[in-house]
Amino acid sequence: MKQLILALDVMDGEKAMEIAKKVAEHVDRIKVNYPLVLSAGVGIMKRLSEIKPVIADFKIADVPYTSSLIARIAFENSAESVIVHGFVGSDTLREVCRVAEEFGGKVYAVTELSSPGGEEFMSAVSLKIVEKAKEAGCHGLIAPSTRIERLREIRKAAGDMEILCPGIGAQKGSIEAVKYADGIIVGRGIYASGNPAEEARKLRRVLKI
Ligand code: C5P
Repeated sequence: MKQLILALDVMDGEKAMEIAKKVAEHVDRIKVNYPLVLSAGVGIMKRLSEIKPVIADFKIADVPYTSSLIARIAFENSAESVIVHGFVGSDTLREVCRVAEEFGGKVYAVTELSSPGGEEFMSAVSLKIVEKAKEAGCHGLIAPSTRIERLREIRKAAGDMEILCPGIGAQKGSIEAVKYADGIIVGRGIYASGNPAEEARKLRRVLKI
């Protein structure tokens, strides 16, 4: 079954916990990003991981050593997986995968951002990123639901790597993405709605079709 992942980009730890509990029965995993972790502290990941597995979307993009430290902090704080930028190249990708392996965790590499700017530089190299991420041992990829033609190409190149797609909802990505992806990542469409549990339930129903 296709996964539904909540991108919990709120900036208050208690609010994050409240939303996570409300939507828990409809989502498979929770993705945290800088807005929440820099506001609430890294300990929020452990609390959330008691509700659902946590993906640490730190979009790691540094030299291998610094990247390995960031990945280690994420896994030591209960992350189930981390997201790394793919454009950093093989050495950083390999190093992050090595740390993940120590913890039995997973690594997802960003191919191209789902926002319009993702097309300016990243679309030109995203298929190469797929190749490098695969060689480095990444478990999966992050690819845009906002550019279905790119997603289709990425799917072809990815083989059996898992693909997660952000962009549905606030960024106007297409639900058609579920044809090519293993899961969708939705943030504002759920947490910024009047009724997060109901929005998550509706999306879950769409994923079952
Ligand atoms: O609120 P929204 O549904 O747009 O949230 C999307 C989430 O996915 C954000 O946390 C954003 O950082 C993340 N993301 C993205 N595009 C990528 C990779 C991650 O929108 N290519």
